[in-house]
Amino acid sequence: MAKEIKIGLLGSGTVGTGVVRVLRENAEDISKKVGAELSIKKVLVRDTSKKRAYLEDVQLTDDAQDIIADPEIDIVVELLGGLHPAFEYMLAAMQNGKHVVTANKDVVAQLGHELFDAAEQHGVEFKFEASVGGGIPIITPLKECLTGNRITEIMGIVNGTTNYMLTRMTEDGSDYDSVLKEAQAKGYAEANPAADVEGLDAARKAAILASISFNSRIALEQVSVEGITNIEPADINYANELGYVIKLLAVAKDYGEKGVNVRVHPVFLPTSHPLAAVKDVFNAIFLRGNAIGDAMFYGRGAGSLPTASAVVADIIGEARNIVSKVPAVIGCTCYNHRKFCPLEETESSYYVRLHVDDEPGVLGAIASAFGESGVSLKSVIQTRKVGDHAEIVAVTHIVQHKHLQEAADILQKLPVVDSIRSIIRVEED
Ligand SMILES: NC(=O)c1ccc[n+]([C@@H]2O[C@H](COP(=O)([O-])OP(=O)(O)OC[C@H]3O[C@@H](n4cnc5c(N)ncnc54)[C@H](OP(=O)(O)O)[C@@H]3O)[C@@H](O)[C@H]2O)c1
Repeated sequence: MAKEIKIGLLGSGTVGTGVVRVLRENAEDISKKVGAELSIKKVLVRDTSKKRAYLEDVQLTDDAQDIIADPEIDIVVELLGGLHPAFEYMLAAMQNGKHVVTANKDVVAQLGHELFDAAEQHGVEFKFEASVGGGIPIITPLKECLTGNRITEIMGIVNGTTNYMLTRMTEDGSDYDSVLKEAQAKGYAEANPAADVEGLDAARKAAILASISFNSRIALEQVSVEGITNIEPADINYANELGYVIKLLAVAKDYGEKGVNVRVHPVFLPTSHPLAAVKDVFNAIFLRGNAIGDAMFYGRGAGSLPTASAVVADIIGEARNIVSKVPAVIGCTCYNHRKFCPLEETESSYYVRLHVDDEPGVLGAIASAFGESGVSLKSVIQTRKVGDHAEIVAVTHIVQHKHLQEAADILQKLPVVDSIRSIIRVEED
């Protein structure tokens, strides 16, 4: 084979080790697919003295310049994690004429536009398939296979930790705290789980998915975020009774002239919805295009080899272009400047669970509070006693978020209402 393409890896942790393994184990096929040998020339790590599987004959360094400034390296693969110094290393690599692959959702969601500009300026490619959905192909399908569509809606289970926790709460009846401990013991949740359970990890992925789907840059700060920390076993049980499951979704919807809205929150999903069957640490992205209709992408959203599958695909894509001397064909696809539809203007049906005084006339007072705000109710159930209080569950018809908020404000002030325990959006079929 005439050409050898040299790769510099920044990081050799969970994903980096997987990438080395896939490149090694599938080397023969990969070189035939690319038309050149792919070799890992150097790997950046913090601790060069640590023994590393598959890297016995590869040069380790703790100085990023050894890779970024090496004229022989064609592709730099960033697998460090975090915003800094990952961003600066990628930028410098591009400035030195190197193609870049990353799995880093933090950088893509927050500083991706700067890297796209740099890639265009320096005539190099920038790929980040693994930044959303781990091993699930979704960025390339959106940019290539589905590019003939206008995407109107994208909804994803893009955080394996929270999907595992909600699945266990649903199937075992466990409460939030015990299921979090179990997820930590199994290595599915970090010691500090905030980024997962509070929805920030999913928000980063939502910003990336929405920017590509709507061809319009969505900043992370625009994404409204609500995690799963307030979900109680009672909500799980009511969802089950009413024919739904609770999932944490990244949602991006096109509201036409009002603009696009992007958000992360728990949702009551009908059990018949394709995303409802996505359990444990699995991820899936469901989308609606004006030509393809509904489509869903399902698989492992994390893990060494699944994530490496996506990273290696990006490396192969760039290597093929190097071999055939094709410049980066698809750069930044954010050519639109779509208006952002505020959360208040979005519409949904809602599930509302309240603890109220257990006395006659309470139901009427609650129905009036909803009515005053223009929120019509599909059903109201007074179900059980909780201590001194009665529990009431209401499901609304489709209403604007701002009207539901008004109703919640009025309910909160009613003397008969002890507390609003939860408000969760209901996704209709
Ligand atoms: N893990 C997954 O399943 C998964 C899935 C999708 C996307 N991702 C993304 O992939 C990226 C890598 O994740 P990971 O789980 O592989 O991380 P990881 O296991 O923590 O590995 C990080 C690697 O980077 C090295 N490193 C970190 N900071 C460094 C610095 N400043 N200088 C030199 N070396 C440094 C570490 O060196 P030492 O080995 O010496 O400590 C380690 O080899 C992240 O952006 C993550 O969000 C991960």
